[in-house]
Amino acid sequence: MKNYLSPSILAADFWSLGEQIRAVERGGASYLHVDVMDGVFVPSISFGMPVLEALKRKTTLLLDVHLMIVEPERYIETMASMGADLINFHLEATSDPLEVIQKIRSLGKKVGITIKPATPITALNPYLELVDMVLIMTVEPGFGGQSIMMDCVEKVRQLRKKVTELGLELDIEVDGGVKESNLEMVLEAGANVIVAGSAIFGGNPEERTKAFVEKMNVEN
Ligand code: DX5
Ligand code: ZN
Repeated sequence: MKNYLSPSILAADFWSLGEQIRAVERGGASYLHVDVMDGVFVPSISFGMPVLEALKRKTTLLLDVHLMIVEPERYIETMASMGADLINFHLEATSDPLEVIQKIRSLGKKVGITIKPATPITALNPYLELVDMVLIMTVEPGFGGQSIMMDCVEKVRQLRKKVTELGLELDIEVDGGVKESNLEMVLEAGANVIVAGSAIFGGNPEERTKAFVEKMNVEN
């Protein structure tokens, strides 16, 4: 599987968002992770459509939208038209995951299904053959800067084993608490798309991105 780095702009300095995105582009990032929070599915509120639209106008990085919102089906079309290339929705946030998957597909976008730390990977069984990606949260969604949960890394390992046995080429993304110091561990567990927020934007974003990319043998 190819590896991709998806810096999470939730941790960026919004005063200079454009510059920070140019920095991760120069550093060799492939994706940009865009955390959309509604204050209901998670306690916090982040940003939404206008930000996504502005990003789409100025960057060619793949826009990896992580919807932390209830009833994601209500916003799939809008997110797609604003420029999302990959739409990750939470399994826990909808009563009809199949409908969400079909909506995303019908718009020609990549489909990702996301699970919170307490959700077992068996809950994904009906959907594994229908999606492009599974996003395993390695922290409780809602805030950046938390520590990685080891039992969630174990879920990554089990899921990779299972999808390999099924003969599926599924991307497995990890999100939350990934740092240079635990990067090797999550890659080895079987993740191939890596989200990093504070570890990238908490320092010099170009240098931090380069350091990650070097360790990951990233494809652009
Ligand atoms: C948390 C978000 C993450 C967050 C990761 O709910 O989904 O994408 O930005 O931040 P770090 O890498 O700082 O844990
Ligand atoms: Zn996220």
